Amino acid sequence: MTPTLDTIVSLCKRRGFVYPSSEIYDGFAAVYDFGPYGVELAQNIRTAWHRAMTWQEPNIVALDSAIFMHPKVWEASGHVSGFSDPLAECRVCHSRVRVDHLLEEVGVQADEKMTEAQINELFAAHKARIKCPKCGSKDFTEAKSFNLLVQSNLGNFTGDWTQEPTYLRGETCQGIYVNFKNILDSTRMKVPFGIAQIGKAFRNEITARQFIFRKREFEQMEMQYFVHPDAAADTYESWRTKRFDYYISLGIKPENLRWHQHENLVFYARAAWDIEYNFPFGFKELEGVHNRGDYDLTQHTKFSGVDLSYRDPHTSEVYMPHIIETSVGLDRTFLAVLTDAYTEEQVAEGDTRVVLKLPKTLAPVKLAVFPLVKNKPDIVAKALSVYQSLSKTYKVEFDDNGNVGKRYRRQDEIGTPYCATIDYQTLEDDTITIRDRDTMEQIRISIAELPAFLVKNIV
Ligand code: GAP
Repeated sequence: MTPTLDTIVSLCKRRGFVYPSSEIYDGFAAVYDFGPYGVELAQNIRTAWHRAMTWQEPNIVALDSAIFMHPKVWEASGHVSGFSDPLAECRVCHSRVRVDHLLEEVGVQADEKMTEAQINELFAAHKARIKCPKCGSKDFTEAKSFNLLVQSNLGNFTGDWTQEPTYLRGETCQGIYVNFKNILDSTRMKVPFGIAQIGKAFRNEITARQFIFRKREFEQMEMQYFVHPDAAADTYESWRTKRFDYYISLGIKPENLRWHQHENLVFYARAAWDIEYNFPFGFKELEGVHNRGDYDLTQHTKFSGVDLSYRDPHTSEVYMPHIIETSVGLDRTFLAVLTDAYTEEQVAEGDTRVVLKLPKTLAPVKLAVFPLVKNKPDIVAKALSVYQSLSKTYKVEFDDNGNVGKRYRRQDEIGTPYCATIDYQTLEDDTITIRDRDTMEQIRISIAELPAFLVKNIV
């Protein structure tokens, strides 16, 4: 059963995965911090994506471009003029609402790509059924397009910087397009090839709901694949297949994934499909796979004056490459992975355990090491030496607090696949017990066998 969002939020807070930002000041809407286990999980998600995209794809290279770019980048991309959501205000409580979302909630198909006039027509037609989520009123202003780019005064020392703002990037892929030529000139890449990047993006999202699903400061993992125009359609289909298979190989349950095709396309897209995940609030976009045509390189050629067309070294044909994009949020992957792993199990009469059945590669801690008792120096020293020898290779946790049963439950809640207990028998024969998170079964192996056991079982 899919857990409720409250259940996930509460686990994240209780076990140090995610905290609301600036919580002692009552929080800061749609901004969140990763706690100790959140940092580990997020890093493992980045690593899995980075390896799938670059280590396992010989013709994709990595990039880490800066958050700030020349402001003209955002004019060329179309974000300054067209990156907006339809916003209305409740006339009673003055909450700001996203009109396309309110329409969707009453079963009316709408999205942010519609014009102001189209949205207002639908809004007027269904007003009687639409209520303010905060106060229940039905009295709203008209919808207006609200630009989502976050502005800053970086490098502008005048008092009136809003006239010429710089922007915190609204998507990471623009850093890839403006480095297309650099990568071609400095590596052996030839079309077809891809550039992959992980990094922060910022959007002034109108509504702050659904926990880390929709943040104002979030992280994207985007890959842009540059192809000959004739190859774009086939390459697009092959990336769609690869990306869906990636989530399955990551360990996400197939029944919680599905495709959604966009009918109303954004200005740059020739085709757009989303991989949706069954979040606690229903199936919603996890990743977008887009055929962007030659829009991006053409726009940046026009605005920068630098020709970004490509000359094929074999045929000498000159053309503007088309781009196939795969774009996923780290935070949405994080939420999907936690939702998928969350399990409540009855282990005995009146005894339920919460266990995160995370894919082992993603688990924040791979092994917990317990001395059976903490008042026996030989046992504690042995446990510490096991912990120290393995912590060079894995994230290992040492825990000597409370009884072993409670320690197991704590590790279950953070998804630790294995717990090793050092006990009296260890002092005699150098063996330990290994307890499996999912089956709760225990086996006894020698300490010398432990590294090979982990290599074999944590793939
Ligand atoms: N470059 C294309 C692009 O940015 P998008 O559909 O706007 O497309 C891509 O975003 C992905 O980024 C989404 O599928 C989602 O996973 C993530 N994302 C977008 N907005 C987000 C937000 N406010 N909070 C968290 N993740 C977000």
